Amino acid sequence: MRLSVIDHPLVAHKLTALRDASTDSPTFRRLADELVTLLAYEATREVRVEPHPVTTPVAPTTGVRLTSPKPIVVPILRAGLGMLDGMVRLLPTAEVGFLGMIRDETTLQATTYANRLPDDLSGRQVYVLDPMLATGGTLVAAVEYLLERGAVDVTAICLLAAPEGIEVVRSAFDRHAHVTVVTAAVDERLDENGYIVPGLGDAGDRLYGVV
Ligand code: URA
Repeated sequence: MRLSVIDHPLVAHKLTALRDASTDSPTFRRLADELVTLLAYEATREVRVEPHPVTTPVAPTTGVRLTSPKPIVVPILRAGLGMLDGMVRLLPTAEVGFLGMIRDETTLQATTYANRLPDDLSGRQVYVLDPMLATGGTLVAAVEYLLERGAVDVTAICLLAAPEGIEVVRSAFDRHAHVTVVTAAVDERLDENGYIVPGLGDAGDRLYGVV
């Protein structure tokens, strides 16, 4: 597994505003959206492209375009939905699948409650959107699911990560060179309820309210 922590002043600035308990939901959604686009820029560094001829007003030349099969973006419901627009802004031709995963607040184990994905992901590059890499259980379950269906590389984009979660993902995909986590920061630790400290609270609640 590869880990990329994006060290950029704009990323740090937006993340600080997201952390602020007084940031309201509309502002939180806008900031999350902007932050994902910045992270996605780095996360798509190895997106597959092929040569493509183009004629400018001045001369013909050769550029590139995304290859087929197109990348697929998979937000983990529900909080990952708050990252979708920011991601597809950068990859407008990507396909979008959905994975609904919920963690039991007592055992902290993740289970899948919804799945809208092609059965066959052979040869696909997949971008998983999950704002909080906390215990790592949800992300490991999601990435295993995608690799079992044939995805060739999986990049998880997380707004924040805890060291404990990174270790869980790292040990699950120790020898898998094509699993990458891209995040804006690695925080101090998890608390006894599985929340990232200092973190930003419950990402789903802050995006969409407590339901
Ligand atoms: N999920 C969240 O939304 N926040 C955390 O801190 C941990 C998991």
